[in-house]
Amino acid sequence: MSRSFWEEPMNSHANRSSMALPAFIARLALIVLFATATIAKAEDGYRLWLRYDPLPTRTIEIYQTRVTELVVPGNSATLDAIRTELVNGCSGLLGSPVPARDHVERDGAVVVGTPRSSTLIAGLNWQRELMDLGPEGFRIRSIKSSRRSLIVIASNNETGALYGAFHFLRLMQTLQPLGNLDVMEKPLLKLRVLDHWDNLDGSIERGYAGRSLWDWSALPEKVDPRLRDYARANASLGINGSTLNNVNADARILSADYLRKVAAIGDTFRPYGVRVYLSARFSAPIDLGRLKTADPLDPEVAAWWKKKVDEIYQFIPDFGGFLVKANSEGQPGPRTYNRTHADGANMLAAALAPHGGVVIWRAFVYDMRPGYDRAAAAYDNLQPFDGKFRANVLLQVKNGPVDFQPREPFHPLFGGMPKTQIMLEAQITQEYLGFANHLVFLPQLWREVLDSDTYARGRGSTVSKVISGSLYGQRLTGIAGVANTGSDRNWTGHHFGQANWYGFGRLAWNPDLAARQIAAEWTKMTFTRDARAVPAIVQLLLESHEAVVDYMTPLGLHHLMCGGHHYGPAPLLNTEARDDWNPVYYHRANEQGLGFDRTQTGSNALSQYHKPVRDRFADLDTCPEKFLLWFHHVSWDYRMRSGRTLWNELALHYQGGVDWTRKARQEWTALAPVIDPERHSAVAKKLIIQERDAIWWRDSCLLYFQTFSKRPLPEGVEKPARTLEEYKAKSLPW
Ligand code: GCU
Repeated sequence: MSRSFWEEPMNSHANRSSMALPAFIARLALIVLFATATIAKAEDGYRLWLRYDPLPTRTIEIYQTRVTELVVPGNSATLDAIRTELVNGCSGLLGSPVPARDHVERDGAVVVGTPRSSTLIAGLNWQRELMDLGPEGFRIRSIKSSRRSLIVIASNNETGALYGAFHFLRLMQTLQPLGNLDVMEKPLLKLRVLDHWDNLDGSIERGYAGRSLWDWSALPEKVDPRLRDYARANASLGINGSTLNNVNADARILSADYLRKVAAIGDTFRPYGVRVYLSARFSAPIDLGRLKTADPLDPEVAAWWKKKVDEIYQFIPDFGGFLVKANSEGQPGPRTYNRTHADGANMLAAALAPHGGVVIWRAFVYDMRPGYDRAAAAYDNLQPFDGKFRANVLLQVKNGPVDFQPREPFHPLFGGMPKTQIMLEAQITQEYLGFANHLVFLPQLWREVLDSDTYARGRGSTVSKVISGSLYGQRLTGIAGVANTGSDRNWTGHHFGQANWYGFGRLAWNPDLAARQIAAEWTKMTFTRDARAVPAIVQLLLESHEAVVDYMTPLGLHHLMCGGHHYGPAPLLNTEARDDWNPVYYHRANEQGLGFDRTQTGSNALSQYHKPVRDRFADLDTCPEKFLLWFHHVSWDYRMRSGRTLWNELALHYQGGVDWTRKARQEWTALAPVIDPERHSAVAKKLIIQERDAIWWRDSCLLYFQTFSKRPLPEGVEKPARTLEEYKAKSLPW
């Protein structure tokens, strides 16, 4: 396989001193060694973005003078992890061993640690800067010390130093100049958590990459070494929490037997700064404790939780807290006892507070009222409790008001509860986005939500500012992503699914990061640094989200997926147990037109947004067309801004989505010379499926909507491959 045309210009100066013969032979031997190792190494995606294969020769020549030895003094599990990562990383990237030493011996030493672990760092007088950067922030700086040129990676805390080490490796992996470093970073959000919807039987709800990574039957005696790599990958992004079990929780996770297992996982994660959290089933006092009730105001119930929480902290001293799905989709909760969400959350919070734990209460709540609008339900249920939650409670709100659709407007609870600590819940796993079969770069979707202006405090009150606490001065802040990981060798099923884990972590660290930067970093670290391939892959990533929206749910359509599993289109579905589990409830197609009227003439869910936003969405002249059918029911002949009718525009969006999948396939094929054959072929196969599914989406949606619109497909839209009857037969039992 040829990698000859990678060359990307470096900004810094090359050191081109000629090499002595023995050094040359030693180098040659190492190159052969590494080359053999690379060839022998399966390119199965296991290494994620933490790939430490030798950098291009020219870069190595420059870096070798900057990185000559690694000085990570002190002994602790985290300092050991830093040392190991840097030795492996730098030696691999530079193609020759970079030694670890106790103290600086020469120019080019990289010194890592905290003022407590390193006397050199303690002597730098960085106390104030490090204090400002907090326990997880870090500083990376090129300095002169005792006339030696060094790079220092420092933090007030070992976890921050670990994050700094990973940041430094990323700089190398993405070929950044190391000559004059001056970096200060700290996370903008406090809790950066992956939520695993893993069941105790090893299955994963909405998981598409194999089985759960937690092998409950083997734990606690045997801990899969893979869990260390999982924690490393998270630490490399700054993800600092992991909720191990499904929000549809099994109370047994809180039994002593399981807590021992959870503790073993926690021990593995701890050196990497990843705390464990658990989903708590609200009825656990009944299920496990044999109490008669789980009423949060019953003293016996509160005492049971307190004892349980004390026990948890004996097993797991740095336990993060509980995630709770209550009174939602059949889960028990305080409402079962005529108590409020605040009563439930606060009772648990009281038990956790003495230990520093938190309650993450989910806002994904909707109810059975007939004729209601599901998109308005969470706000209706939770907003009245603004200001009623204890200081260690966060309310976890999905990005949009329905449920992780390919595109939704932002959830009105962002900016709607100024006295409540709001945290964002994103879904990394692609429940409604083609599972692990479709390439879709989700940072693009999250960026759109984070940048949405809630106008809660006037212009510029973005969702990003709400969750980072800068709008309302929220003390505890956070973001959670429903994980897309599993036992598949490549972790995420689709190699490009890794980009979503990566992107989630990067945005969790800095919710203002540009999607393009995330895409470029990930591509260079994971696939190739080829100067022509990188922009091509980045472009594919950046276009992918809009393309998927186009072939699934353009112009504000939503929830057209098959019932239950949510794979593939079923716009005609009308047989699910609840109205709001049926696509027909959401698209409301009829002979007059299409879309859900959420204005005053309809459900008026729009009233939940702040005034300028509400007015903008309510007015057909100002409503962004990407949300048109989310907020309005409009006629088939409605004139779009392009001058086309709604029907024609809709059809062309569907076609555009299909066209993109073809373009993606072609571009991917052209990248074959610079991508390893194993991953290239795996992705190529997935792209074939994506095209197949895009056609399925286009045809079945258009054929079905055509039964109402009664208009021909416009020019430029292909004739459907099958009849509506055939698609019906395919979609329902699929
Ligand atoms: C969606 C998803 C469920 C999940 C739920 C939740 O409805 O389909 O599997 O349990 O969200 O977020 O609680």
